[in-house]
Amino acid sequence: MQYQYLFKNVTVVDGSGGPEYRADVAVQGDRIAAIAPAINAQAEVVIDGTGRVLSPGFIDVHTHDDTNVIRIPEMLPKISQGVTTVIVGNCGISAAGAMIGDRVPDPMNLLGEKEHFVYPTVEAYRQKVAEVCPAVNVATLVGHTMLRNNQMADLYQAASPQEIKGMRAQLRAALQQGALGLSTGLAYATAFAAPTEEVMALAEELAAEQGIYTTHLRSEFEPILEAMDEAFRIGRHGKVPVVISHHKCAGAKNWGRTRETLKLFDQVRQSQDVSCDCYPYSASSSTLDMKQITDEFAINITWSEPHPEMAGKSLQEIAQLWQTDIHSAGKRLMPAGAIYYNMDEQDVRRVLSYPVTMVGSDGLPNDPMPHPRLWGAFPRVLGYYCREQGLFPLTVAVHKMSGMSAARYQLPQRGLIKEGYFADLVLFDADTVKDSATFSQPQQPAEGIEAVWVNGVKSYEQQAVTGQRAGRFICRQGK
Ligand code: ZN
Ligand code: CU
Repeated sequence: MQYQYLFKNVTVVDGSGGPEYRADVAVQGDRIAAIAPAINAQAEVVIDGTGRVLSPGFIDVHTHDDTNVIRIPEMLPKISQGVTTVIVGNCGISAAGAMIGDRVPDPMNLLGEKEHFVYPTVEAYRQKVAEVCPAVNVATLVGHTMLRNNQMADLYQAASPQEIKGMRAQLRAALQQGALGLSTGLAYATAFAAPTEEVMALAEELAAEQGIYTTHLRSEFEPILEAMDEAFRIGRHGKVPVVISHHKCAGAKNWGRTRETLKLFDQVRQSQDVSCDCYPYSASSSTLDMKQITDEFAINITWSEPHPEMAGKSLQEIAQLWQTDIHSAGKRLMPAGAIYYNMDEQDVRRVLSYPVTMVGSDGLPNDPMPHPRLWGAFPRVLGYYCREQGLFPLTVAVHKMSGMSAARYQLPQRGLIKEGYFADLVLFDADTVKDSATFSQPQQPAEGIEAVWVNGVKSYEQQAVTGQRAGRFICRQGK
């Protein structure tokens, strides 16, 4: 038997959360072919794994890479972190299925320009991904705001029964074509007018297809418990699992309240399948939202359509430059992007270490001054939170980035180092792995990620892409 790759004497952290072990691991074609204490066989490439960790490639469960996987298929911000699969279509916005009229509504503009929305069905999107073959695997959710924008003339009201019917039909088709489930972004003005019943009607389609419901809550500020309750009710109605996206307690008045939100999780988990994802930073980022402008914490502008020269400056600075207050300055900058320093570090730690929390970057790939989570989320969990802060053992960190995520999102034969599973693998140095991206220099590949394989193809090595790409579109289990 001749293998393509043979890792000798490597420390396997297999993604299951179970103990690590020393082994030889062989790759044949796109699969993990053998795992044993010693494999004495021929291989095209033998890799000495002594002192190195081999883990499943990381699954970024929360991304906005929808059009980037097609336009910039090298996907350096992700593959350089050891990410081998991205889930797109989060926060109510997906490129898959979108039909754009005159203009791209907020926050769909995070995904790209009007000309990038050219996939009216999940099937069309899947075909394009297959044709381009990005460096990472791609799976998609269906965005509620996207469905609204397809069916409704006015997004600032509840959908009519006719419009709901249209949304349901499109969602059903998308799920049949392999989409993972439905995402909402109820906090955004373009979805905020949707009553709970509107989303519940869509959740009925999820039930039939066993999809998942993920949500950027209606509020991450003071009414967060009510917003969580709404999400859980929608899940119960559809009899489907619920994922709370980028779980946080935002706003100074809300700091410390993850004690309450996680207690609510504890209670609800006894009778319902609920979980969350989280990025390892205490600052958030999105489009600039007038409602979130405050002097309680710092806000940095990352882009502005009318004033691109202000990218990288704080809202305070800009207001001073213009000799006005932060609210008027905000108005003049719109449409714009922002980083909000709106979380408490202790809350971040509590959420990240919570047993059912997965890691998702929520990186914004089209931002000229992106939040560093785009390039740093995964190595930051491994380096800063796991090794330096001792928040959890390495086996738990890797589980939150691979095995837990694949199981939750029904990604078949991914997320574990197991014979017969796809050879999505990352080789790293647990002693040096570290995020390099900072708020002032956000576009930097991580340290310590030595090589990355996607479907058995070595795609990243020594801080650079190899030029070989092997990512695939992943359909929900059973599709
Ligand atoms: Zn979001
Ligand atoms: Cu998001």
